[in-house]
Amino acid sequence: MAESIPAPAEGVFADIWALADGIPGWLTRAQAEMLFQQARSLPEGALAVEIGSHRGRSTVVLASAIRERGGRLVAIDPFVDGRLFGGSRTRVEFERHIAMAGVENMVELVCDYSTRARTSWTRPFELLYIDGKHDYWTVSDDLKWRVHLPDGAPVLVHDCFSSVGVTLGILRHVLPSADLRYEGRAGSLALFRVGRPTRADRLRILGEMPWCVRNVFLKVLLRLRLRPVARAFGHDSPYDPY
Ligand SMILES: C[S@@+](CC[C@H](N)C(=O)[O-])C[C@H]1O[C@@H](n2cnc3c(N)ncnc32)[C@H](O)[C@@H]1O
Repeated sequence: MAESIPAPAEGVFADIWALADGIPGWLTRAQAEMLFQQARSLPEGALAVEIGSHRGRSTVVLASAIRERGGRLVAIDPFVDGRLFGGSRTRVEFERHIAMAGVENMVELVCDYSTRARTSWTRPFELLYIDGKHDYWTVSDDLKWRVHLPDGAPVLVHDCFSSVGVTLGILRHVLPSADLRYEGRAGSLALFRVGRPTRADRLRILGEMPWCVRNVFLKVLLRLRLRPVARAFGHDSPYDPY
């Protein structure tokens, strides 16, 4: 019967993106597609963990992809009141958005700091998405969640090689590590995979440094309100490169 034939990934993704793109956030289409493809490749009934959910833009993409395979998503965000991300109001929007996408029953919200939630976490899971606080110390701690992942599992990091804190965390804890390989990126969304890295994997991380320096330079220009100069360097947006 026609209804039992799974829709091709591209058609499914287009529908999910049409929903997610209406949710304010920083995830680009190419990044959403990378998240979607990694989540969709997980085994049946898999559990994924997202650190930093905000209004649910990435949550909806991940959860929709995992739902196809009977999986679940743990979304961790403290929803603390503040100028940048908002607190209880953002949480209300997050809940509205996951309900709108029909994934509210398979998303478990952990309303806490990832660093605090990690200390009592014991459940194994199959995908880690890191997009919480971007300072070096928090990112360093968030990378430790990977001890719960099996070999071959994807670790996706947003604002990688564009935020100084995130990049320092990667250089300090991933570059010399023996258990994470770097595969590539969609904009600032980097894809790592649990497994022994080769010398080439490590060199690929270092190969991103010129792009990282460019991004920091563009951020400085934007802080100095030199948008026309940033535009001359190919960045035609008021927002930081991500
Ligand atoms: C860049 S936003 C996440 C964007 C989201 N992934 C999306 O696609 O729209 C960062 C989020 O991280 C949350 N956050 C900040 N510190 C955190 C922490 N220690 N643990 C988990 N989330 C944190 C903030 O509340 C904010 O909602």
